[in-house]
Amino acid sequence: MVKAVVAGAAGGIGQPLSLLLKLSPYVTELALYDVVNSPGVAADLSHISTKAKVTGYLPKDDGLKNALTGANIVVIPAGIPRKPGMTRDDLFKINAGIVRDLVTGVAQYAPDAFVLIISNPVNSTVPIAAEVLKKHNVFNPKKLFGVTTLDVVRAQTFTAAVVGESDPTKLNIPVVGGHSGDTIVPLLSLTKPKVEIPADKLDDLVKRIQFGGDEVVQAKDGLGSATLSMAQAGFRFAEAVLKGAAGEKGIIEPAYIYLDGIDGTSDIKREVGVAFFSVPVEFGPEGAAKAYNILPEANDYEKKLLKVSIDGLYGNIAKGEEFIVNPP
Ligand code: NAI
Repeated sequence: MVKAVVAGAAGGIGQPLSLLLKLSPYVTELALYDVVNSPGVAADLSHISTKAKVTGYLPKDDGLKNALTGANIVVIPAGIPRKPGMTRDDLFKINAGIVRDLVTGVAQYAPDAFVLIISNPVNSTVPIAAEVLKKHNVFNPKKLFGVTTLDVVRAQTFTAAVVGESDPTKLNIPVVGGHSGDTIVPLLSLTKPKVEIPADKLDDLVKRIQFGGDEVVQAKDGLGSATLSMAQAGFRFAEAVLKGAAGEKGIIEPAYIYLDGIDGTSDIKREVGVAFFSVPVEFGPEGAAKAYNILPEANDYEKKLLKVSIDGLYGNIAKGEEFIVNPP
């Protein structure tokens, strides 16, 4: 029995993500929470003839409490998306408070749940979530994840186009670091099976993976950022967590995690210095069972990218932590 909650379920990401969760054989109960329209989305999805029971909640009548109680996994895509000219960091002021309040609810009503943060800027909202959970003495690093899977999905798609691979899912590409611009580091040299990227195409490919979100923001021209591709990526990640929880072996996806309290993180922490970083994570019944330190295998070109990423992450992480420790 798995109860999944989507907070921000009526949004551009929330609706298709809820649809995918409703179709998943791993989910038996699906609770949709939002400040608007969640009962409507829930009524609509509830007619689909899969086993998950769907309910919708608004803030009134203890909606957050009722949505979260008994949850095994909480996915948070609540908040405002980017418009052209905005960076993910520009979203901080509004989304920081939204994530703080929702994770406070998780700490109170679903302290054992896996928590998957999609709301941007992920580099800072995950540290916010960690600080809130610490404040309530329920922080378990194995269960808190920043969802960076869209970077992996884009790396597969864009790299496949460059090397002429017709099935992008065949490429296993570790993407590490953070989840914005040049904090995103695709380790293309570690792609399995190995790919040969022409030297004159490498910079452009890396930039496209790092800034792929801007293509969508510009194409939507003021009407939002990636929603459908993000829903698929968020679902892929949520299912990986649920497969691990169900005892399936060898389930690995990169995720932005706290570098302490998970097997393998102390080595990574020593290398990068920052408190949060995205690395390939293996999932088990308790959440993150092992973090893989593949950073020493990066080539010199990628090591330079890693340095830029780490420099950017210091400030992003501090900004998130500060928001809870010394509230504005
Ligand atoms: P949207 O505006 O379409 O949907 C957001 C939803 O959150 C709305 O339904 C809104 O009512 C709801 N919401 C606002 N405050 C809330 C609260 N306090 N409690 C519950 N729900 C609340 O935005 P969209 O496009 O779905 O994006 C959502 C977030 O995901 C944004 O922060 C965006 O930047 C981020 N995002 C993250 C990606 C990633 O790779 N991690 C990729 C793309 C977007």
